[in-house]
Amino acid sequence: MKFEFSAGAFVYRIENGHALLLFLKRGNDYDTPKGHFEKGERAEETARREVREETGLSVSFVPGFLKTVKMFFYRNKEKIMKTVKFFLAETDEKRIKISHEHTGYEWLSMDQAMEKIKYKNIKDVLPEVFDYIHRYEKIKEINKEYAGLPKKEKWWNLSRTFVPGEGSLSAEIMLLGQAPGANEDMQRRPFVGRSGQLLDRILKASRIKRNEAYITSVVQFFPPKNRMPTRDEINLCAPFLKMQMELIKPKYVVLLGNVASTEVLGIGNITKMHGKTVEKNGTKYFLTFHPAAALRFKSILKLMLSDFRELSLLITKDAGNTTAQ
Ligand code: URA
Repeated sequence: MKFEFSAGAFVYRIENGHALLLFLKRGNDYDTPKGHFEKGERAEETARREVREETGLSVSFVPGFLKTVKMFFYRNKEKIMKTVKFFLAETDEKRIKISHEHTGYEWLSMDQAMEKIKYKNIKDVLPEVFDYIHRYEKIKEINKEYAGLPKKEKWWNLSRTFVPGEGSLSAEIMLLGQAPGANEDMQRRPFVGRSGQLLDRILKASRIKRNEAYITSVVQFFPPKNRMPTRDEINLCAPFLKMQMELIKPKYVVLLGNVASTEVLGIGNITKMHGKTVEKNGTKYFLTFHPAAALRFKSILKLMLSDFRELSLLITKDAGNTTAQ
């Protein structure tokens, strides 16, 4: 058997509120833009190049989506196992420029795709692809409204720059902080300042991958001078966090510090409660310190490292139980 590796993307556009996926036709076969790695390319670079070469579309890649599909087939009597890494990309354009490799193209709804696509391995992932698109479009709507709060609220005292959460909408772990700091405000990304760098080190030490978690904060605007967000500000932001959490449905929510644990569970005493897990409506909430506190006190860093080791064990144990079932 020969092993091959390639990368590609599911490309979608929205028409009348509905998602349509692009399929490239070769005779009666329906394919997605994909192809082999060129020397030195990472999977996402291959996918971007293939989309450009095979469609001519201008697309933007959706963060956090990656699906690996294995395909078996014969070529000249030789059995091939092809592993394809699929990304997800969106576009506003309808007309594409097909390459010499294809004979046509179609934009298909979920139902049409399920009917027309022959390959089982691709069919099997389509519900997940369309579900991700649906949730991604929804979170864009939520975040658009959230980002518009400063214009709507007369007494707005937070930064006017919205710092959206970051990560996969299918992440099992959500890391929830207090509010962005000055660096996050500048870069419009959560946990990229000193607290974020320490959090990265703690995650690495506990073998939790940052890019497999969804990272955000209770308040997603910087409170100037790094002050605590007020109760009114937290209340104003709370419905948005609730909607984001409902959409992502993480298995574990790591509450970093008192603001997060108070807001989500009504538990404020993190010094006493750190390292504990509270299960509510099928989600496991894990309480620990905010990395800013660990930056100030070595003793807290030690406790935080040990909390994250516990968390990592809990996740491994749960994964073992799920596999055994
Ligand atoms: N602290 C937080 O709580 N959130 C951030 O995004 C950065 C620092």
